This record gives sequence, structure tokens and C-alpha cells, in this order.
Amino acid sequence: MLHIAIINGPNLNLLGTREPHIYGSQTFEQYFTVLKERFPNVDLQYYQSNVEGELINYLHNCMGKIQGIILNAGAYTHTSIALADAIAAIGIPVVEVHISNVLAREEYRKTSFIASKCVGSICGLGLEGYGLAVQYFIGKAE
Ligand code: DQA
Repeated sequence: MLHIAIINGPNLNLLGTREPHIYGSQTFEQYFTVLKERFPNVDLQYYQSNVEGELINYLHNCMGKIQGIILNAGAYTHTSIALADAIAAIGIPVVEVHISNVLAREEYRKTSFIASKCVGSICGLGLEGYGLAVQYFIGKAE
């Protein structure tokens, strides 16, 4: 079985109520339930933290257990060399996801410290970005 971890960073626990004009009105838990139904043959795990070091610890813990990681690092995307280093260190392919189109927003959102360590990035497609990333890992495993 394919083991995939979805990791959400800071403030993404507030999806559903947080700036719904940008991030939509669905909670991640609601979306995740639908995602698991859509991919019954994939072991999908979900982790969220607002704490940079905890995200790094979780990435480390994926080693030897997880074949693909889908990471929305939230604002740490634009600030964290430590997260970039963690992605490079673990040797597991990571797809970067952003719900909003970060390239069409503030200048400071146009820089991603993690993008160059990831296999690819999906942004601006809403929550469906996570589903597309799952699809990518399935296709790669076939
Ligand atoms: C985000 C975009 C980031 O710039 C922002 O800080 C977030 C969410 C997104 O999913 O669109 O927290 O990663």
C-alpha cells in the first residue's frame, strides 16, 4: 500500500473560517474525509502544526514509513531554511501545495524557500491541489 502524508503548517487549522474569500469555507477535516473516500487504496495520513520545529520533527519521522509527502508549509514557505533543509535531508519526494495562488498575491509570498527541494509545486487550485498531488504519487507508483 502507498503511504502518503499530508502536512499542513501554521494557521491552516483555521481553514473554513480563515479569510474564506482566499481559502474557501471548507475545513481541512471535511476535505480530508472526502479525499480518503476517493482514494481507498492509499494510506493517507494527516498532520497539522503551527510550530516550525514540530513540522520538522514530523518530516523526520516520515523516514522509512512514507513514500510521498504533500506539504503546505503556510507562511513558513516564505521564511524557513530549516524546513527546506529537512525536505532535502529526508530523501522522500515532497509536493509543495498552496491553496491560493501565491504568485498573484503580495511580493513576499512569491519567494518559496522549499520549492527547490520539492519535486514540484501546485498553487492556486484551492483544496483540490492536495487531491492532484495524491494523484501524482499514485501515477508515479504504478
Ligand atoms: C498558503 C499561502 C501562504 O502564503 C500563506 O501564508 C498560508 C497559506 C496557501 O495555502 O495558499 O498560510 O500556503
